[in-house]
Amino acid sequence: MDDAKTIKGTVKTAFVKSYGCQMNVYDAIRMEELLAAEGYGLADAPEHADLVILNTCHIREKAAEKVYSELGKLKRLKAERQLEGRDFKIAVAGCVAQAEGEEIIRRQKAVDLVFGPQTYHRLPELLKEQARTGRAVIETEFPAEDKFDALAEKSLRTKQGVAAFLTIQEGCDKFCSFCVVPYTRGSEFSRPVAQVLSEARKLAEQGVVELTLLGQNVNAYRGGGADGESNLAALVAELSRIDGIKRIRYMTSHPRDMTDALIEAHATNDKLMPYLHLPIQAGSDRVLKAMNRGHTAEHYIRLIERIRQARPDMAMSGDFIVGFPGESEKDFEETLALVRLVNYAAAFSFKYSARPGTPAAEHAQVPEEVKAERLQRLQALLTEQLQAFNHSMVGKTLPILVEKNGRHEGQMIGRSPYLQSVHCELPESALGQIVRVQIVGTMPNSLSGQYVGESA
Ligand code: 5AD
Ligand code: SF4
Repeated sequence: MDDAKTIKGTVKTAFVKSYGCQMNVYDAIRMEELLAAEGYGLADAPEHADLVILNTCHIREKAAEKVYSELGKLKRLKAERQLEGRDFKIAVAGCVAQAEGEEIIRRQKAVDLVFGPQTYHRLPELLKEQARTGRAVIETEFPAEDKFDALAEKSLRTKQGVAAFLTIQEGCDKFCSFCVVPYTRGSEFSRPVAQVLSEARKLAEQGVVELTLLGQNVNAYRGGGADGESNLAALVAELSRIDGIKRIRYMTSHPRDMTDALIEAHATNDKLMPYLHLPIQAGSDRVLKAMNRGHTAEHYIRLIERIRQARPDMAMSGDFIVGFPGESEKDFEETLALVRLVNYAAAFSFKYSARPGTPAAEHAQVPEEVKAERLQRLQALLTEQLQAFNHSMVGKTLPILVEKNGRHEGQMIGRSPYLQSVHCELPESALGQIVRVQIVGTMPNSLSGQYVGESA
């Protein structure tokens, strides 16, 4: 505890800023819990903190570059603090830290700590080492010990709200030719079943009702450890037996790992929500092959047919990359055709960004203006589908999990089974409950509804 006190005895505070995927959001929460266990308070802005951690994303160039502009601002803040004779520490965590390591210190000397996604459980020791030596500390090795066991020993799962993320799998062995994840997060690793169940129970005790299981390849989950092999379908079955857990989601899935058992679980397990994030990236087999995806467009389309047979109301979500090296207009039109066929409820689409060290970065690039034009056409189609999907909800009565207060007095915000935000007039006592709400209108990013009654 003493390490977190300044000379005046006031508690030190930390601010963790996260970029990128949900897994980074989960990691940031675990860092905050670790710091809380060390006696830190949480600041609401970098200006009010003694320690700022940037939990970074390396997936596209823009995301990675953001870090350096943010570090420039933090450097000025640090200089101001030093003039006042006060301490200010800057840490870079996440995938940029993992990928660039020492390079970060070379580019920005004000940085005190650099650590990757597999070493953040050592944060308390790293802070002590930095304080002791007064020099920048870099920790980007993949450690031998289990990060999650270490986290469980060092800190508690604290109040999360009604819906929480739970990382069950990390890393990727698939090596899509555009992607840095296999290099930054390492090879595929699944947490043991018992460890996941224990964390889920702790979250349920804190009032969590909805769990979103996270993994770069979450449906490649294998269990492991002392309790041996498992799979995502079996894990979901076990999690649904936990008292208090009423909804389960999982993301991100790979089409090659969508097993029959998992598809069947969507038909039989009411707690498994009818929303599936299943990226294909592109609709042309030629591009899919160059991306090293290991499946065809036909495979994906058949898979979705089977998933929709199991769960007819399944809302599909995906990721798309436009302007992958070698993508022709005809290839791109095949992506549009696939999108029309699948009909997405939500999607993320990106211009291809060449990432150092990945095979696709070596090939001839599609001009920027072509990428921009394709992205615009794809997004127009996806937006149309998303709006049509939201509009199709009007008049329906949906079970809504009430998650938080809305902006207006008396208004609450909840989630539909299809992951849509729903605004509704409700008493605050509805927080954490699943209530029946009739959808009466759509807004650009959410729905509005009227309370019908309690859920059966
Ligand atoms: N360029 C553009 N988008 C990318 N993604 C991953 N790598 C790249 C890249 N180099 C996208 C993919 C992936 C999502 C998380 O980010 O669509 O599914
Ligand atoms: Fe990246 Fe492909 Fe692995 Fe997804 S499956 S994390 S896109 S390499």
